[in-house]
Amino acid sequence: MKYFIGNWKMFGVPKSINILKKINSFTAKDKIRNKYRIIITPPYTLLESFAKKFKSKKVLIGSQNCYHKDLFSSNTSAISPFMIRSVGVKYTLIGHSDNRAEGDSDDMLRDKVKYALKNNLKVIFCIGENKFQKKNNQTFKVLKNQLNNALEKKINHNNIIIAYEPIWSIGTGRIPNHNELLKTIIYIKDILRKIFKKTPAVLYGGSVDANNVDMLSQIKELDGFLIGGASKSSKKFIDIIKNYYR
Ligand code: 13P
Repeated sequence: MKYFIGNWKMFGVPKSINILKKINSFTAKDKIRNKYRIIITPPYTLLESFAKKFKSKKVLIGSQNCYHKDLFSSNTSAISPFMIRSVGVKYTLIGHSDNRAEGDSDDMLRDKVKYALKNNLKVIFCIGENKFQKKNNQTFKVLKNQLNNALEKKINHNNIIIAYEPIWSIGTGRIPNHNELLKTIIYIKDILRKIFKKTPAVLYGGSVDANNVDMLSQIKELDGFLIGGASKSSKKFIDIIKNYYR
């Protein structure tokens, strides 16, 4: 099973549901639709309406984040995993580099993962090194720490997906080369095997588009993609899927 996950970030108003409708009609007719799963993460404002509309459809809905506490609390503007699950959402991203940059610490991320899973949300956990760390050959160390600090042995590996998103690649049009990416994905899977005994799905994210997905599709160790910019257009998103299987 391959994942094509679209992260809308700060994009979308109610009528943007048309993008999802187009993606859904493509998938519903696609003969190989059982080979992949599509998840879109719109902003909080659209979660409930989209989740209702796409209940039992091919396109699944996820949140972009959640707070590191459960149920209710007195933290202004915070939204807990419990609240997200209560509107019919089944997935959440956690640890996106945008949120790490805003202050999400390893401790907070560990709690986010814990409470998301407790509330029956499947977690798409994001990791990735920045330009400086890459230049200084710290990539593996950074990834290992990010995984070990947030993921606990007792987690069911089926409820977690890892998205490797090198920060220097997000929104820049630059992607790692084939060997570099292959080595990194194998390394991530090794670390995960040490934690869980089995390996959850591992995705790549960062400037994925309909052109470079060809090269990326040659890395069979990859279980899918986390797509930012190109997920805001139904055509670009569908073209990524089409080109992946071409
Ligand atoms: P881009 O595909 O726009 O580089 O974004 C990647 C990303 O951050 C998805 O979470």
